[in-house]
Amino acid sequence: MKRIGILTGGGDAPGLNAVIRAAVKTAIRDHGCEVLGIRDGYDGFLEEDGILSLGAEEVRGILPRGGTILGTANRGNPFARKVVRDGQEVTIDVSDEIVEGIKRQRLDALLVLGGDGTLHIAHELAEKGVPVIGVPKTIDNDIGGTEITFGFDTALNIATEALDRLHTTAESHHRVLVVELMGRDAGFIALNAGVSGGADVILIPEIPFKYESIVAKVMERAAKGREFSLIAVSEGAKSQGGQQVFSRKGDEVFVPRLGGIGSMVAEYVEKKGYESRLTVLGHVQRGGTPTAFDRWLATRYGSAAVRLAARGGFDRMVSLQCGHITDVLLEEALSSPKRVRPDDDSVITARSLGISFGDE
Ligand code: F6P
Repeated sequence: MKRIGILTGGGDAPGLNAVIRAAVKTAIRDHGCEVLGIRDGYDGFLEEDGILSLGAEEVRGILPRGGTILGTANRGNPFARKVVRDGQEVTIDVSDEIVEGIKRQRLDALLVLGGDGTLHIAHELAEKGVPVIGVPKTIDNDIGGTEITFGFDTALNIATEALDRLHTTAESHHRVLVVELMGRDAGFIALNAGVSGGADVILIPEIPFKYESIVAKVMERAAKGREFSLIAVSEGAKSQGGQQVFSRKGDEVFVPRLGGIGSMVAEYVEKKGYESRLTVLGHVQRGGTPTAFDRWLATRYGSAAVRLAARGGFDRMVSLQCGHITDVLLEEALSSPKRVRPDDDSVITARSLGISFGDE
């Protein structure tokens, strides 16, 4: 193995730079390998200045830095790229150009740090002969084949701190405070932060809720003299028989943007006579310095990805299982996205503590 490339795709997540740093150090020290960074996801292969050399100097000091030094993009699937031709918007497949770009760089391996969208593209490129290795990144923690993705722990800590802060102001004003959290179709951030931050109601995509049940919980607390409540709502939560709420529809370029369910919950509760306010935590959950856990996990993933490449384990993804780093087929990881199991012990524990999921 002489030359490897690294790219970061999809939404950023704390820990991306820690993976890059670990991969570069391992590649240079243990394999005497040259490392190239690809700017802005797969697009870097198509741009004139899309490739940069990554050495010890380039990765110095980046371990605690959020974001990604390589830049990222969460649109522009090379298999379905929207372009304007003769004044008309058309969708074209530029994947062969990407494959050509990879060949031009004479890469023996391409490490792809991404979530489900980016890793799906990686798997499709592998089917065209590209030697890809996946590294599971996302604050949503929704990738199968691994116990945890890097970025999740940081988002969880930020969301928990937000709940702690909302707690004191909710209590002072005797209000219901609703916080809408990210996570797409997986409720891990809302569930784990809700439990850790003492939420009274947790609404997640995997357990559709009834508006009346939320208010019943608020009333039950008020009757006991607890005249405030905290509600953690996952952006992908939906009511029983209802649909997920989007702030923008998707198209060939953009994935649909979830958002708005928190405001519907806050409005409903307020209409029932309880003063409510909404906080949408948004991208704060993705930004800034990674937690120690994410740095540790990201570093292990980055180093293991280079070792996997050296063994020729392509079309595979590094993963954490039973506390140890191993690897799985990309196809296997992508075919079973991870979701909160309604019968999981964390849900049962939350219920035992009196937390409502709005479903009873
Ligand atoms: O997948 C990560 C994530 O932050 C989701 O939780 C959220 O729905 C989405 O990305 C937001 O994407 P964007 O950065 O395009 O607004």
